[in-house]
Amino acid sequence: MANVVVVGAQWGDEGKGKIVDWLSERADVVARFQGGHNAGHTLVIGNSVYKLSLLPSGVVRGKLSVIGNGVVLDPWHLEAEIAKLGGQGVNITPDNLLIAENTSLILPLHGELDRAREGAVGVAKIGTTGRGIGPAYEDKVGRRAIRVADLADAATLETRVDRLLAHHDALRKGLGLDPIDRAGLIAALQAIAPKVLPFAAPVWKVLTEARRAGKRILFEGAQGALLDVDFGTYPYVTSSNTLAGQAATGVGLGPTAIDFVLGIVKAYTTRVGEGPFPAELFDEDGERLGTRGHEFGTVTGRKRRCGWFDAVLVRQTCATSGVSGIALTKLDVLDGFKTLKICVGYMLDGKQMDYLPTAANEQARCTPIYEEMEGWSESTAGARSWAQLPGAAIKYVRRIEELIQCPVALLSTSPERDDTILVTDPFAD
Ligand code: GDP
Ligand code: IMO
Ligand code: MG
Repeated sequence: MANVVVVGAQWGDEGKGKIVDWLSERADVVARFQGGHNAGHTLVIGNSVYKLSLLPSGVVRGKLSVIGNGVVLDPWHLEAEIAKLGGQGVNITPDNLLIAENTSLILPLHGELDRAREGAVGVAKIGTTGRGIGPAYEDKVGRRAIRVADLADAATLETRVDRLLAHHDALRKGLGLDPIDRAGLIAALQAIAPKVLPFAAPVWKVLTEARRAGKRILFEGAQGALLDVDFGTYPYVTSSNTLAGQAATGVGLGPTAIDFVLGIVKAYTTRVGEGPFPAELFDEDGERLGTRGHEFGTVTGRKRRCGWFDAVLVRQTCATSGVSGIALTKLDVLDGFKTLKICVGYMLDGKQMDYLPTAANEQARCTPIYEEMEGWSESTAGARSWAQLPGAAIKYVRRIEELIQCPVALLSTSPERDDTILVTDPFAD
């Protein structure tokens, strides 16, 4: 049986939620493998809109949903998101949600540290979501995180808290913050533990058995390849690996579990937060993309920066994530543009570049080389077959495939799940 990884191939918000929802009908298990509640995945099903940050999008369809060890989990947010979905008629129980026992927790001190750093004078901010993602991953790698399994035993929990606070209290002193109330933190963790522990499971084992039983696993990535902590526009990135390779270690399966990598690609480019963005627009075309595409962040409500499609970046991320095929989304947002531009290379200090260099100062100096294409006046919104697309739109899609050296497997023409054109089935064996 084929297992599919869905990953963002730009700076996030490419439409992963919609595509995961569309694919999840044919999946048995949907698993998150990195990130946390910094993600914002929107699903539109008929008249209902679901916004998920931490829970895998498969929960809405009642699929077995899994939060893998690669995720950082805020237990209070988990409780709130479960309650919110419950209010929309989605009942989440240990029968349909499992959380890896070795998942690291995000605590209130992580969010506080994240926001204190972002507000610090004299240090360029990253523009994070302020949800404690970076500090929580630092503690995981620093071997002082509190993990889901630690919540089950009072003595272990106290030892873990002491190790954590030895680090944080020293750091907080330097930032002018009060030390953490140790007893208060332990009491809060003990109070939330019964909300988390019923979902705890050896996820690696459950998924291994699911594979043996011939079940289909859909891995749901968060953020996008250009926010990857190694291959993104560092330091303006998130703190996890967002590339497809992370799907394996983020749940405890080997890379041989992955059969198809579906890169989600928006038909233009957006980014939230700070950092380089060579094809960014500051004119009415950029405004038009933002307005037509409703480009406001799901998590923070911030206005997303908009630009033309950057084929250099997507060719690069298709390589670093090993993308088998892309889902091209939001093609309908381009309806009515007289002319479209595609970034096909950069100029850097008089030299032409066919990839984004690593050095931050060079990234900032890259200026786009554009190719122009004719737009289309017809509407593609809601199209469900190639035959419904104008010739110029098909040309645009074909040119993208050529430039990024990767085929289009799916095409999305509206937020609604069924407004999707299937070219190649990622689940086909
Ligand atoms: P994600 O983070 O990758 O899941 O993406 P978001 O949900 O944050 O942002 C994508 C937005 O675009 C959501 O509001 C979707 O409902 C919407 N969307 C997804 N696909 C399409 C599409 O093909 N056309 C249009 N117009 N909107 C889409
Ligand atoms: P989805 O899954 C877009 C961005 C933030 C910031 C940087 C670091 O919806 O595509 P963090 O809080 O992670 O430390 O912030 O990463 N960012 C996202 N941008 N979509 C997301 O998720 C994002 N998650 C984080 O804006 O620039
Ligand atoms: Mg999003």
